[in-house]
Amino acid sequence: MSSYSIAVLPGDGIGPEITDAAEIVLKRLVASNQGLALDLTRYEAGASHYRATGVTLPPDVVTACVAADAVLLAAIGLPDVRNPNGTEVQPEMMVGLRRALDVQSAPRPVKLYPGVRSPLADVGAGIDMVIVRENLEGLFASFGGGAVVGDQVATDTIVITRAGTEKACRYAFELARRRNGRPRDGRRRVTCVDKANVFRCFAFFREVFFDVAKQYPDIEADALYVDAVSLYLVQEPDAYDVLVMENQFGDILSDLGAGLVGGLGMAPSAEIGDHHALFQPSHGSAPTIAGQNIANPIAMILSAAMMLDWLGERHDDPLALGASKQIEAAVAGVLARGDCRTRDLGGAASTTDFAEAVAAAL
Ligand SMILES: NC(=O)c1ccc[n+]([C@@H]2O[C@H](COP(=O)([O-])OP(=O)(O)OC[C@H]3O[C@@H](n4cnc5c(N)ncnc54)[C@H](O)[C@@H]3O)[C@@H](O)[C@H]2O)c1
Repeated sequence: MSSYSIAVLPGDGIGPEITDAAEIVLKRLVASNQGLALDLTRYEAGASHYRATGVTLPPDVVTACVAADAVLLAAIGLPDVRNPNGTEVQPEMMVGLRRALDVQSAPRPVKLYPGVRSPLADVGAGIDMVIVRENLEGLFASFGGGAVVGDQVATDTIVITRAGTEKACRYAFELARRRNGRPRDGRRRVTCVDKANVFRCFAFFREVFFDVAKQYPDIEADALYVDAVSLYLVQEPDAYDVLVMENQFGDILSDLGAGLVGGLGMAPSAEIGDHHALFQPSHGSAPTIAGQNIANPIAMILSAAMMLDWLGERHDDPLALGASKQIEAAVAGVLARGDCRTRDLGGAASTTDFAEAVAAAL
């Protein structure tokens, strides 16, 4: 029996709707996989919770997330729920949870599924890469510590450590070993994305990357500047397999990646540490479309698939690994059929319609 406790955080905006959609799929999955059990427990946290209680991330929710086998989060934050200093309350929860779970590596798949239109006229042999975002350091290490001097100067500081960079880079190489290489020719490659021509911290990031690369002679390693990569991802997206980078660069480039494969509704993500992991779509709470049952639930459903893959790897559990593949195949099957798509993909299906179609395909 494979039994896992999952802390579910529906959050704000479209969060509760896409959580319901993911639960439709997960419940069907459990029903059709004898021996697999998922204990899904919902907790309140986020901007709406802050508005009601003055607390974004209650300590008992952190405790529950740490105790769970995995955390599934939908989306948090509302642009009008802010601290007195002008920032949103959302990062308090996101960064707080990441730090509590110590999740250093954030893989964000960028994959173009058959039946989904890319805005690029030419995608070559296809788009199937993973952006690995270092998740705790970089510019985000400064969160809670930036300074404003008088009303004239503001600073935030980038922090890069050998230990943190090594973890993210090792994760990227291990991931490349499990993948099929870049679409163009199947070559397994990890690309370090940095700004090592200008900043010492990025020259250091690159040095650590190539140190780690020596332990993976079977995987190609190369390095490019982040500005150039922004261009190349658009010009030749089939040339990339796994890319690893500093936190803020990963935050930005993964949105660009999502834009290449149908939008943020197509962009799942994971945040992986040595002992814990959190899974959530790359997108936010999309408040302008909330409450209408029109959000695309695919990023959330595929994040749940990534969760089962991680649980399967971690617990050496073929049932969970197989369940992950089943979800992705079901999503891909519905997309390829073309008769059930949400509005962002040019269709008229509701969030629930799509989830039901995936459940039926399972
Ligand atoms: N980790 C997180 O939970 C997270 C990440 C990013 C932003 N946010 C928060 O979300 C709120 C809104 O931010 P934003 O508007 O910049 O980003 P967003 O990702 O919520 O939305 C950007 C655009 O993508 C669309 N979109 C996003 N998800 C979609 C989906 N599943 N289906 C269809 N369309 C979708 C939105 O309608 C919008 O046009 C803010 O409060 C922000 O802080 C949270």
